[in-house]
Amino acid sequence: MNQSPQPRPPRGVFRGHENPIRPPEDSELTHVGLGTPCGEYWRRFWFPVAMTQEVTDLPLRIRILGEDLVLFRDGSGRYGLLHMHCSHRNTSLEFGLIEERGISCCYHGWHYDIDGTILATPGDPESGVREHVRHGTYPVIEYEGLVFAYMGPSAEMPQFPVFDTFELPGGDLVPYSISMPCNWLQVAENTTDPIHVAFLHSRKRDIHFADTWGDVRLIQWFEGEWKMNVAASLRLGDMVWVAIQEIVYPANGSVTYLWEDGTEEKYFTRLGLSKWSVPIDDTHCMVIGWRHFGDIDVRRMGRREMIGKQSLDFPGQTGTEPYSERQRDPNDFEATVGQGPISSHAAENLVVHDTGVAMLRRRLREGIRAVQSGEHVSMPGQDGSTPYCYAQSTVLPISPKPGRDDDQMLLEIGKAVYDTVASGDAYSEPERTEKIRDALRELPQDLRFSGSGTRAH
Ligand code: FES
Ligand SMILES: [Fe+2]
Repeated sequence: MNQSPQPRPPRGVFRGHENPIRPPEDSELTHVGLGTPCGEYWRRFWFPVAMTQEVTDLPLRIRILGEDLVLFRDGSGRYGLLHMHCSHRNTSLEFGLIEERGISCCYHGWHYDIDGTILATPGDPESGVREHVRHGTYPVIEYEGLVFAYMGPSAEMPQFPVFDTFELPGGDLVPYSISMPCNWLQVAENTTDPIHVAFLHSRKRDIHFADTWGDVRLIQWFEGEWKMNVAASLRLGDMVWVAIQEIVYPANGSVTYLWEDGTEEKYFTRLGLSKWSVPIDDTHCMVIGWRHFGDIDVRRMGRREMIGKQSLDFPGQTGTEPYSERQRDPNDFEATVGQGPISSHAAENLVVHDTGVAMLRRRLREGIRAVQSGEHVSMPGQDGSTPYCYAQSTVLPISPKPGRDDDQMLLEIGKAVYDTVASGDAYSEPERTEKIRDALRELPQDLRFSGSGTRAH
């Protein structure tokens, strides 16, 4: 009788059964509900919760930090951000009627002012309930097409920080908002990890931005008081491109011009994106912020008509492309959401180029624990001054030097650019920008980088 050959398993050591199951998430860094350590930390900052264009003649139901809320603009133009459930019998105020002053509930007409004062209980006008019930509300600031909220204790409310990058001369901010089905932290971490640019955005599939992005850059991370910066330096022939990105804790990222290719000399050009990854709840977040237009968009690649709710003018950010396309050409959305609803840090194996990820987590944990123990959290602009963002691109004409380790020189140039930008803190705008640009123009003549031994004039 003929016997077919016995199927053989492949050679190798297969450890699926022996390796532990995915360990649970780090709840201290990821859970944001009311009363959780990270949730209380987040509730010490101003952050955007919606785009102005989403606020219409109807109440907008939103979920932020695990809380259900309604946002509206009343007849006198004031914004209200109220706990969603009516203080009478919990009907949702998303079905409420916007009044000249505040909003009233559809069910029995309880009428709320934007600060939670109950103005009327029309079914029981004599009731004293108005005197002892106050509805939960949060203060709101509308700024450049975004609605920002502060959801913490009233006594701790910080100043609203207006960075230099929010008001750049020749700038033009276009708001957008994208929801993502994953924890906020993995989205925030993406900005601290510029190595992914070479792989996810270039080498692995299609080139997503500029064709010089496939070269692996030399990365340095710098810690500030309330922020961190990531400098990526790249040699392109006789030019050195230093791009610096920024994260203001907990999750405000500033990203340089998206289509920069680093081939032409330039000094201290600024942003393509300012964005926050705001927790909707533990397993969802919203990337909300601005695309920058105006002078920065020198290649005229931006498409402002594409920017808005769940839409950006470059691919791979929204998860809306067909699944098979996203499998064939994954992008930031797939890389971050693909880590799971809440990434398990204990299942990771961090390497040297994850230094920024580890730094961000450490600094967040310090902030979270500071709030827990009643300490002050360092924040930008609390003395009333303009906080400065360091995110920028500079491309310097500095050739490789014979006999000199070029990687080492790139790191020194990256540090010199960072230090030059940071030295601008001593000045006010517009003098600061001029001083930084002048000092950066001097760098190619710096003895450390000129290789000539003499200073050029
Ligand atoms: S449930 Fe809102 S007024 Fe009764
Ligand atoms: Fe990316």
